[in-house]
Amino acid sequence: MPETQHSPAIEVEGLVKEYEYHHKEPGLRGSLRSLLRRETLHKRAVDNISFQIQPGEVVGFLGPNGAGKTTTLKVLCALLYPTSGSVSVLGHVPSRREASYLRSIALVMGQKNMLWWDIPAMETLLLHKEMYRIPEREFRTTVDELSEMLEVGHLLRVQVRKLSLGERMKMELLAALVHAPDVLFLDEPTIGLDVVSQARVREFLKGLNAQQGTTILLTSHYMDDIEALCPRVMLIDMGRIGYDGPLASLVERTSPHKLVSAVYAEPVPRDELLNAIGSLPVQPTDDPLKVSLAVPRDQVAEVASRLLRAGRIADLSIEEPPVEEVIREVFGKAAGERGVS
Ligand SMILES: Nc1ncnc2c1ncn2[C@@H]1O[C@H](COP(=O)(O)OP(=O)(O)OP(=O)(O)O)[C@@H](O)[C@H]1O
Ligand SMILES: [Mg+2]
Repeated sequence: MPETQHSPAIEVEGLVKEYEYHHKEPGLRGSLRSLLRRETLHKRAVDNISFQIQPGEVVGFLGPNGAGKTTTLKVLCALLYPTSGSVSVLGHVPSRREASYLRSIALVMGQKNMLWWDIPAMETLLLHKEMYRIPEREFRTTVDELSEMLEVGHLLRVQVRKLSLGERMKMELLAALVHAPDVLFLDEPTIGLDVVSQARVREFLKGLNAQQGTTILLTSHYMDDIEALCPRVMLIDMGRIGYDGPLASLVERTSPHKLVSAVYAEPVPRDELLNAIGSLPVQPTDDPLKVSLAVPRDQVAEVASRLLRAGRIADLSIEEPPVEEVIREVFGKAAGERGVS
């Protein structure tokens, strides 16, 4: 890779983004009044955040609705000017909108279409080829590779409006990637897709990162995306970053328990079972031969061996709590501290 190898791909320092907007009262009277006396209001969507992302990292950007995720991505992609703070991506200041910068990044928004509806995706790709001045041979190779990875080769010449949601999303990804960007920003890339398409898109992104070393910053409300793709996560709430680190440590820190489950091959004598369970809280299960316990991390081995001794075991598993639950807990706590329910 170029000169970015030893410096971060993305560097954000004290970024603040405030939106300016005007309050408008409802109705004609309200419209007239706001014409005469417009009150300017400010919304601080991103409130002094700092982080660095190294080349080749895949980072998940998580937060509740309105947390400031899209705003941050838009600043990084030069769609919005920062109010203050400094941003550097691949050594460029995004807001300068240099052509060489725009050529080295891509943004895909699950909620927005970049492709033209009335023409086949191939036409848009050819437009990108001209826009980004991609040499013919490189263009063909990239399109072939990407369409094979995404399994959409046969759809390149079909009008975009005739594609299914999942097929269209894959085309959006393809179109965003024909110029082989080094950094890819994804804003909810799997929103609205069925589970199979979601999994395909995830696999594709994983492969892209592994094969091309593409740096990826992605937001998603689907924890499956985050678990599959992001060793590192940043949590943002009300414009501030509350956690930045490994997903695994977040799970450990937030939930001091692991879930230990035993499925027995035959009913276990009550006393044996009660003895194995001790005073640990039992989780509800729908299988009468299954016991599930939330066990403090330092007691996992001991409890597992007690469960093994209690009866004839068909299956024993030790799991982390679902990430979904962990995230809900983190944001639930934050909301609780603010006095929000
Ligand atoms: N153009 C705008 N003018 C005024 N306020 C805005 C504007 N765009 C966004 N906001 C506000 O800024 C805050 C952050 O919005 P943003 O879209 O970045 O959130 P988000 O984390 O992407 O949320 P979601 O998960 O719902 O997509 C919200 O409170 C939103 O209402
Ligand atoms: Mg958003």
